[in-house]
Amino acid sequence: MTLSEPMTDVQAAITALWQPEALPNPYPAYERVRALGTGGALHVVHPEWQGTFITGHAPCSSVLRSPSAMSGSGMPPEDAPASEGVQLLRSMMLFHNGMSHQRLRGLVSAAFTPRVVEEQRDLVRSLLSGLLDNLAARGGGDIVSGLSNPLPARVIMGMLGLHGDDEARFVRWSQSVADMLAGAENSPELMARIDADAREMRTFFKDLADELRARPQPGLLSALAAVQDGGERLSGDELLSNAVLLLTAGHETTSNLIPGGLLELSRQPQAWAALVATPRDPNVADELLRVVSPVQFDGRGLAAETTVGGVILPAGSFAQLMLGAANRDPDVFPDPNRIDWERPNSARHLAFAAGPHYCLGASLARLEISETFAALATRFPDLRVTDTDPPFKPNPVLRGVRRLNVALA
Ligand code: HEM
Repeated sequence: MTLSEPMTDVQAAITALWQPEALPNPYPAYERVRALGTGGALHVVHPEWQGTFITGHAPCSSVLRSPSAMSGSGMPPEDAPASEGVQLLRSMMLFHNGMSHQRLRGLVSAAFTPRVVEEQRDLVRSLLSGLLDNLAARGGGDIVSGLSNPLPARVIMGMLGLHGDDEARFVRWSQSVADMLAGAENSPELMARIDADAREMRTFFKDLADELRARPQPGLLSALAAVQDGGERLSGDELLSNAVLLLTAGHETTSNLIPGGLLELSRQPQAWAALVATPRDPNVADELLRVVSPVQFDGRGLAAETTVGGVILPAGSFAQLMLGAANRDPDVFPDPNRIDWERPNSARHLAFAAGPHYCLGASLARLEISETFAALATRFPDLRVTDTDPPFKPNPVLRGVRRLNVALA
């Protein structure tokens, strides 16, 4: 594809995506990129870099499912020296492809079955009840510290078999991994903190895995420590990295969706009223995932020339998949900014990506989201968001607020 727009317009549109000012509402910046592209894709050539910014639902979906799309293409090879943080990421299934990915995913999913997930419903309900009682006793307060941080952290910790005393430490680790996934290598101070956390994680999980192999206990970690793959266990590094992946992926995304969903609903009072009328509408989780998109960007290196929507993406280039933009593609979701519980195709969203890396925790996330919003709408029909312009964490990839105050009476 040749660019019909002057490079400066394209560069300005791309630069705007990463500006802190875009965090509270990145969607106008996405629309600028969409308008400059063709067939939902905008191919950009820099002097040292070429890549394609994909806003369209169909091309995003097609790249995510393509066999030539490689995850973790920017990761240094296994034998190359790397920081503690990068070493931790390297063995996560998220950054593996082909057989190596299938093996890691197969081993973890063997311990993460639909039955195990469904068994979390009672735990989720009882955690919600306690957390909402505390918020109610104060007439409201910060939803992030009072609900959306502790709930998913306690659920995934419970599933892994980790103790509640370590909650604050796990939440900090999860934040470090999220910062690293968003490209923290540009900040030396942040990388130093992440490396220190990675060292702590390594020691913690190594000791724990040894203990669990010797004395198995209930929980996913014990199942993972014991798991056999044709006689071959997950190696120590693989166990560490994938336990950390579950801890982070199971926490950071859901904890951003809850306040993100409430903020969107506060701006669409008719959708909140409809939720109060039918709190168990089966479409709630998917429509909120579509509108909030806690993972706004995903990336793939292209191992071969790939054609999407009539646009040729060269081999060796990088595809930046703008999941937040694809989930508001007007060709697939008419009136895309509106929360519509009746939308017939909400579940076609790409909030969980698609293809081989489709979110392993999607059913757990749907369970947590639907239970949370049903409980909020049932117990607090008059809930009001009092933070109309809340502060955002400086992470455009895993986008979410730092704080969101609500009044419950
Ligand atoms: C709102 C909640 C969630 C969202 C939006 C979300 C989103 C995603 C996305 C977009 C990916 C694909 C990343 C890529 O293609 O590079 C992914 C992968 C993954 N997610 Fe989730 N996730 C959520 C919750 C969870 C939960 C609760 C867990 C587990 C406890 C989980 C575990 C995973 C794992 C293990 C992967 C890696 C799968 C693989 O590489 O094969 N996620 N998630």
